[in-house]
Amino acid sequence: MCGIYGFIGEGKVEELINGLKKLEYRGYDSAGIAFAKDGTLVVEKHTGKVDELRDFISNDLKDKIRAGIAHTRWATHGVPNDVNAHPQTDCTNKIAVVHNGIIENFSALRAQLQAEGHKFTSQTDTEVVAHLVEKYFEGDLLEAVRKAILDLEGTYAIGVLHADVEDEIIFARKKSPLVLTADGERSFCASDVTPLLSKNREVVFLEDGQIARLKAGTFEIFESSGKKVQPTSKYIEWSEKDAEKGGYKHFMLKEIHEEPRVLSDALVGRIKDDEVYLKELEGWEDYLKSVDKINVIACGTSYHAGLVFKYFFESLRPFNIEVEVSSEYRYRNVLIDDKTLTVAISQSGETADTLESVRLVKSRGGKVLAISNVVGSTLTREADKTIYINAGPEISVASTKAYIGQLVVLYLLALYLEKINGHDHKEIVQNVSKLPQLADNFIISSADKIENAAEKYVGYSNFMYIGRGINFPSALEGALKLKEISYTNAVGYQAGELKHGPIALLDEKFPVMAIAVDDKLREKMISNILETKARNAHVVAILTKGDESTAKIVDDAIFLPQLPDYLYPFLIGTTFQLFAYHVANGRNLNIDMPRNLAKSVTVE
Ligand code: M6R
Repeated sequence: MCGIYGFIGEGKVEELINGLKKLEYRGYDSAGIAFAKDGTLVVEKHTGKVDELRDFISNDLKDKIRAGIAHTRWATHGVPNDVNAHPQTDCTNKIAVVHNGIIENFSALRAQLQAEGHKFTSQTDTEVVAHLVEKYFEGDLLEAVRKAILDLEGTYAIGVLHADVEDEIIFARKKSPLVLTADGERSFCASDVTPLLSKNREVVFLEDGQIARLKAGTFEIFESSGKKVQPTSKYIEWSEKDAEKGGYKHFMLKEIHEEPRVLSDALVGRIKDDEVYLKELEGWEDYLKSVDKINVIACGTSYHAGLVFKYFFESLRPFNIEVEVSSEYRYRNVLIDDKTLTVAISQSGETADTLESVRLVKSRGGKVLAISNVVGSTLTREADKTIYINAGPEISVASTKAYIGQLVVLYLLALYLEKINGHDHKEIVQNVSKLPQLADNFIISSADKIENAAEKYVGYSNFMYIGRGINFPSALEGALKLKEISYTNAVGYQAGELKHGPIALLDEKFPVMAIAVDDKLREKMISNILETKARNAHVVAILTKGDESTAKIVDDAIFLPQLPDYLYPFLIGTTFQLFAYHVANGRNLNIDMPRNLAKSVTVE
């Protein structure tokens, strides 16, 4: 949550805005920049999106600067307004600070600093950092930041600039990511790799507790004790183009259309002769044979992917799998023994609750396998092993292609665990390997039909998604997608639960999205559809091609090809993403940056 960008070396003010633009998906309540001009600190900040800031400072964009820091905010402490926007400054108006995370002891620090004579102007927790740096500054900015962070409790990624210190800017992190790179003449730091891809794809991830000193073209890294450490770099495969819209109206639409490619990239090298190979799990064969329980932890869409995994794995053989949202799991007294495998799913690899759950598991001696999309993210560094989904950067706040990538990797994991235990599922492996083509054909043949169906439902304020078995998680995911980008009150239920309460909601103004594909629970679903029709609800049904009898009883039908039961979640996932997209587009909403949300939830 929130984006940080900074650079040092010859550049223009515009560089800060361009960097922020690429991070805006992480938060967009307000945006701001700071740089030094002739020993004076210049801070420009504004409520709203980065483009509003750009317009606000349009006359200064070409100004040359030697260093700057920038921030796009998702508000935690203090309402989104100009004063609470970052950078925050100190009493001397020389020091500027940008911050991601939450300073948990900010009230105590603020009171203490006020007692010492510091004057505060904002409601933010961040402002204490500026005053602490002021308090400790005696000419050495690195040392002042080092002392300041020793006083902080909570989570932070911070960037600090001092108007009198021309040749360096300082960054520090604890549980909130920061990435560094240099291109020979300039050095850069950002809260994720996207704005760095055009600079140098050889990057260094700052570790917890470390501080970075950036000078033009170089950077050094220190422990919080002040000891210098040797950085290890990582090459990022993503290209700058991957993080651009490529002609689509929104990133979300582009990312949905990338799904066939995502499936193919997730499968490449992992299936050979109808067998699954996961080289990431090498060395774990004996351990995996002994595993008798899997705990899956994740949030939001990743949690829904975990639920599909549970249904899929259980369809292969009865197995003990628990799937839990991380924000609950981290506070539970869970039993973890040496036969338990914990699978942590996170597209970003930075979700605070998932990371804390992983730390809980590890503190109890458990092993953690991460499923992530972001190379070098905190999750991948803290987990014992990682399987990457290789989806490329996902910019839209609503997760789409990453969900499809998570599903296929989780299927591979289930099939690999089966193989390790001597269970052969050649036909299923073959079918999974056909997914890229299947997804491609489906998008080509059905995208327009889904758009047409969605257009009819632009005006509704409520929606209920229902499904059974392996398609129940798809109902949850479809409802989440619709609510987060179109602000429709959308809910997902197991269809069998309708009679236990939710059916009371239904009438002609409350449509139902029913998943009634040709699987072993189709007949039950048709009964549920009839129940909803009896309450005058409009029904959109996801059916298997040829099911004309069900099509006759519903208001709108979207047809999928005949598939084995376990493949439906992939195409249903895409269908619901497109449906939600077109409803939101019909309402002319800011689809890639829905209100109140941010891409990675790095606070609790
Ligand atoms: O990065 P993660 O997969 O850990 O993120 C988890 C959720 O925050 C995320 O899936 C969220 O629900 C998305 N906005 C859904 O579209």
